[in-house]
Amino acid sequence: MYLTKEEERIYEGEEGWTRKKAMEILVAIGDINNASELIPIKSAHVSGVSYKTIGEAFEFINRLEGTVEVKSTLNPIGMDIAKWAEIGISKEFANKQNEVLDAYKKLGITAECTCVPYLIGYEPEKGEHLAWAESSAVLYANSVLGARTNMEGAPSALAAALIGKTPSYGLHQAENRKSEIRVCVKCDLADADYGALGFLIGDLVGDKIPLIELSSFSSSASLPSNDELKYLSAAIGATGSVGMYHIKGITPEAGVEAEEMESKLSEEKIEIEKDDLEEFYIENNEPDVIAIGCPHCSSLELTRIYELLKAEGKGRKVRKDFFIFTARAITQHTQMQQIIEKIENYGVKVICDTCFVVSPAFENYDCVLTNSGKMLRYVPLLCGGAKARLCKSEECVRKAF
Ligand code: F3S
Repeated sequence: MYLTKEEERIYEGEEGWTRKKAMEILVAIGDINNASELIPIKSAHVSGVSYKTIGEAFEFINRLEGTVEVKSTLNPIGMDIAKWAEIGISKEFANKQNEVLDAYKKLGITAECTCVPYLIGYEPEKGEHLAWAESSAVLYANSVLGARTNMEGAPSALAAALIGKTPSYGLHQAENRKSEIRVCVKCDLADADYGALGFLIGDLVGDKIPLIELSSFSSSASLPSNDELKYLSAAIGATGSVGMYHIKGITPEAGVEAEEMESKLSEEKIEIEKDDLEEFYIENNEPDVIAIGCPHCSSLELTRIYELLKAEGKGRKVRKDFFIFTARAITQHTQMQQIIEKIENYGVKVICDTCFVVSPAFENYDCVLTNSGKMLRYVPLLCGGAKARLCKSEECVRKAF
C-alpha cells in the first residue's frame, strides 16, 4: 500500500509509539486487502467496550497516548452509567467498566455509548468515508445513508480514529457496492417483520450484497420507516457477513445507479414468502422478560411505545420485567424526559449506555420477548443460555400486562 511521506514517518515511529501502532494496524489490514492507499475518514465508531466482553484486555487501551483525529463514538458498555446499581451491576464491575470508559475518554473519544451514533447528531452524509465497528450501524450507514465504511473490528476502528484515515478497499470503493443477489419479498412487512427478514437474508446471502425488492414498494403507505430499516440492518449484520444491502427504489444507491448496479447481479434469486417470516413468531417458550431497543430506540420509537403502554395499560403496571434500551443523548430532550417518566410509571425501565446483550445484568432470565431479529441471534449465545422469542412491538407491550 502506498504511504505518503507523513504516513511513513508515523509508521517509522517518529510521532510516538501509539501512532506507530495504529499505523501498523492500518497498513497490515490495507496490505491483506490490497488497498492502494489510506483515505481520510469523517468519523470512527469503536466497539468492544463492555467490560463483559473486553475484560482485562482494556489495559492495552490504557497504554495509548494522544487523541483521536476525528469525531469518535463508543458502542454500548456493560451498564447504565447513572443507574448501574439499580439494574444489579456489582460495584466491582462498575469500577472496571468506568476504568475502560476513562481509557477511551482520555483518547478524546466521546463517551456516548450507543449503537446508533447516526441518531444522536453524527449522521454521515452520502459518500462520506467512515471507520465504524458495530455491524448494525455499518449496514445502516452504508445502505440507508449511502456513507462508506467497511465492517471494522475494535482495533481497526480505534487505529483509524487515531490516524484519521482508513485503508481504501471493500465498501469504500463504488465497484464493490453493487448488488450481487436478488431477494424478492412477496408479502407486506411491518415492525418486527423487518428483523425476521434481515435474519433470513443474512443467513441466505452470506457475503453477497442483496438487492431487496419489496412487494409493498408500489404502495407508499407501507414503505419501511427508518426504525424498521434499523432493525433490518441489525438482523442482516447478526446472521450474515455482508456490510450493505440495497432496497430497490428506496435506499440511496438503489435508485439512479440501478442499471449499473444490476450488472453485477447473478441469476440467483431468493424468494421470501409470508410463511417464511411467520415461522419466527412461533410461541414456543413463555417469556419472563421483555426487551426492546436492539439497536437502541429512537425518540419516535419511545413515543410509540408510550402510546402502546397507554392504550394497553389503562393505569395498570406491567407484570413482567420490561426493559427499553436507548442512547443517553436521546433521553435528554425535555419532551423525551417527560415521555420516559410516563413510560417508567408503567413499571418499565428505560436503560441507557448499554443493552440486554452486552451487560451482565440480564443473564438470569429463561426467555426474552423482543421485537429485534438481532437479539434472536445473540441472546442464546451471550445471555446466560436464555432463549429469545420474536414479537411485534404492539404484542410485546400487550404481553407485558
Ligand atoms: Fe446495539 Fe446491543 Fe443490539 S449493541 S445492536 S442493542 S446487541
